[in-house]
Amino acid sequence: DWVMRDHIAEAVAAIREQVGDEEVILGLSGGVDSSVAAALIHRAIGDQLTCVFVDHGLLRLNEGDMVMDMFAGKLHAKVVRVDASELFLGKLAGVSDPEAKRKIIGGLFVDVFKAEAARIKQTHSRHVAWLAQGTIYPDVIESGGGKNKKAVTIKSHHNVGGLPEQLGLKLLEPLRDLFKDEVRELGVALGLPPEMVYRHPFPGPGLGVRILGEVKKEYADLLRRADDIFIQELRNFRDEHTGKTWYDLTSQAFTVFLPVKSVGVMGDGRTYDYVVALRAVQTSDFMTADWAELPYALLKKVSSRIINEVRGINRVTYDVSSKPPATIEWE
Ligand code: XMP
Repeated sequence: DWVMRDHIAEAVAAIREQVGDEEVILGLSGGVDSSVAAALIHRAIGDQLTCVFVDHGLLRLNEGDMVMDMFAGKLHAKVVRVDASELFLGKLAGVSDPEAKRKIIGGLFVDVFKAEAARIKQTHSRHVAWLAQGTIYPDVIESGGGKNKKAVTIKSHHNVGGLPEQLGLKLLEPLRDLFKDEVRELGVALGLPPEMVYRHPFPGPGLGVRILGEVKKEYADLLRRADDIFIQELRNFRDEHTGKTWYDLTSQAFTVFLPVKSVGVMGDGRTYDYVVALRAVQTSDFMTADWAELPYALLKKVSSRIINEVRGINRVTYDVSSKPPATIEWE
């Protein structure tokens, strides 16, 4: 598509002009915005870009490896993967309040990223002068203050404000003028796989807010496997009328780990294992959302696969709450 090609050429020229022969650091999360920003900046300046991928251990199954395969493997971008899962799990031990967990995860994330950025700044021979962020137009409006600022914080979101100043870096935001749809189209045009670009949103604190109460590695490991089955089957099942997959027919879908045990029976034995809840919603703005009327055949397949394949989970429930009054996430 010519319009997109022109847009990329223009954006690439603008980034080269802005950056000159200096170097850029970007925090890669695996999400759409930072991924597209990374691909675009890499197209413009290649090895002058270093991506920092902080793995907090609360990502989905194989997500860290997929991010590395894509950016380091296929795009040949410079990516530093910081495995900080033990640090995060350590600080989260004993903490069960949702907002306290968010603060710990958000705070550590910034600390780890800052330390890595400072290290890169010191060790690179060329002048590291820029911090790139995948800020998109709706983020610009949201943080613009005034009428759009919510009076009450229902859930604190990741806030990396002030980071460039603290690191002594200038801010590079090549997606600032784009809406989400445009960012996705740009991502595809840059060669990112559509599955990555059209992925459901994933919260910054990751599985940290999808494990109710205290976060433990054992819970995260069980949740990752159950959630992967749910997502696989959403991608497998198609709606017969539209031909679309149920993944594409839902705005966000995921599994929640409930740290309670229920009794079950398997073969001749009694089980006493954990429970998960499936959550799938349809929404246009994430401010209100309806629970998705998934086909029973899909729910049945997911439930039987999770219970048979994930030892340690013996019960699957489906969340039929809309927002409001429920929120999309359980925490
Ligand atoms: P709720 O649960 O408030 O979620 O209905 C609305 C949307 O926001 C996402 N969400 C978060 N995203 N950090 C994020 O980056 C967070 O702490 C956070 N909490 C909720 C949620 O996944 C949904 O898309």
